[in-house]
Amino acid sequence: MTVATELPAATPAQAAAPIFPPAPATFPDSPVARVLDQPLMLGLFLPIQAGGWSASHLPRGTTWTFDYNLALVQRAEDFGFDLAFGLSQWLPKGGYGGVFNGEAIDSFTALAAMTAATRSIILVATTHVLYGPWHPLHFAKYCATLDHISKGRWGINVVTGHRAVEHEMFGWQRIEHDHRYAMAAEFLDAAKQLWAAEDNLSVTPALSPWKLDKAFVTPKPRYGRPLLVNATGSDAGIDFAAEHSDLVFITSPGGGAIEDALASLPAHTARVKAAGLARGRNLRTLINPMIVCRETEREAWEYHDAIVDHVDPVASMQNFNSDAHAWRGRKDHGKDAARAVGGNIRLIGSPEQIVAQIVALKEVGVDGIQLSFFDFLPDLEFFGQRVLPLLREAGLRR
Ligand SMILES: Cc1cc2nc3c(=O)[nH]c(=O)nc-3n(C[C@H](O)[C@H](O)[C@H](O)COP(=O)(O)O)c2cc1C
Repeated sequence: MTVATELPAATPAQAAAPIFPPAPATFPDSPVARVLDQPLMLGLFLPIQAGGWSASHLPRGTTWTFDYNLALVQRAEDFGFDLAFGLSQWLPKGGYGGVFNGEAIDSFTALAAMTAATRSIILVATTHVLYGPWHPLHFAKYCATLDHISKGRWGINVVTGHRAVEHEMFGWQRIEHDHRYAMAAEFLDAAKQLWAAEDNLSVTPALSPWKLDKAFVTPKPRYGRPLLVNATGSDAGIDFAAEHSDLVFITSPGGGAIEDALASLPAHTARVKAAGLARGRNLRTLINPMIVCRETEREAWEYHDAIVDHVDPVASMQNFNSDAHAWRGRKDHGKDAARAVGGNIRLIGSPEQIVAQIVALKEVGVDGIQLSFFDFLPDLEFFGQRVLPLLREAGLRR
């Protein structure tokens, strides 16, 4: 007898009316509601992978180690940052080459460990929900546990895997782009039902290899469910975000220079928000700038030029046959300044100039910035001391 025939078929009532948890933002006392109340959300993009986002050999103290990243999160928390993110990658020996040599701690486990060593910052782990495959019962249970340890400060950046090599490492050929989002939707629908269900739950998905048979998760997350995020620029990904995510990680369609970002972002942020509103949901946008800031404009550009002068000729995040839509057509794709400095967009200048650029981003529909730096600890310190007070004066931070 096959497993399928042992499972009771879902009743029409179950199939027609799944029960989902309320979003964490709907609880006024949740950490997520507090963060969304900021005029501009402030996050830190942790360098849990060798090289961070900068393919440059200019000497720096940044490392992928847990201790270094925990120190960064705790300092960001002291400065009042709202969010910290870690990326997730599965690369064969040598990684992307050069300074991107593939050494990286795992996002889910590293950020899970940080939940007990922090008190106010929301921790968002990137998770490839289709790899393994993860089972939604594992996922729902682990996330509910971390939600309780962190007291509502746990989030997931859902990714489906755009690099062919990663799927191959897990033992299959890359799943087609839009089909991945359909499978991820089944996965999240199941996890969300587990977070809400008052009774045992059975689910037989149409596309995915897992099943639930009278499954149950308790305790439930404190505020409905964890914060949900995804990063996308494609139609399928934006549809997915509109249905499932609280925050959408956007890329600048025009490229990484601030003027190209400001020209191309208004239409893009409007499109993302309209997709959310069409489903009655208020989607927030988040973008990840690399901050190169010094007391004067001249010093900032000297720092920038030193990073670019030491560009690593080998390291490139473009390897491994990505099918991501979000980065297509950018003017500076693969160019030295973009590779050496890194980040989705580059903000360069004095503290006053950085604030002016951030104000301009807010005006084109960006609701939050997720910062990276070349040399994280000292550059975060400079940002916290010199830029953050000016952001408050500009009314972007409470
Ligand atoms: C800020 C940002 C962070 C991302 N982090 C990851 C990551 O950690 N792991 C990963 O596999 N993909 C990551 N991606 C890639 C996305 O998962 C996705 O493949 C990409 O945005 C393209 O999506 P699209 O094809 O729907 O436009 C990230 C993308 C962005 C913009």
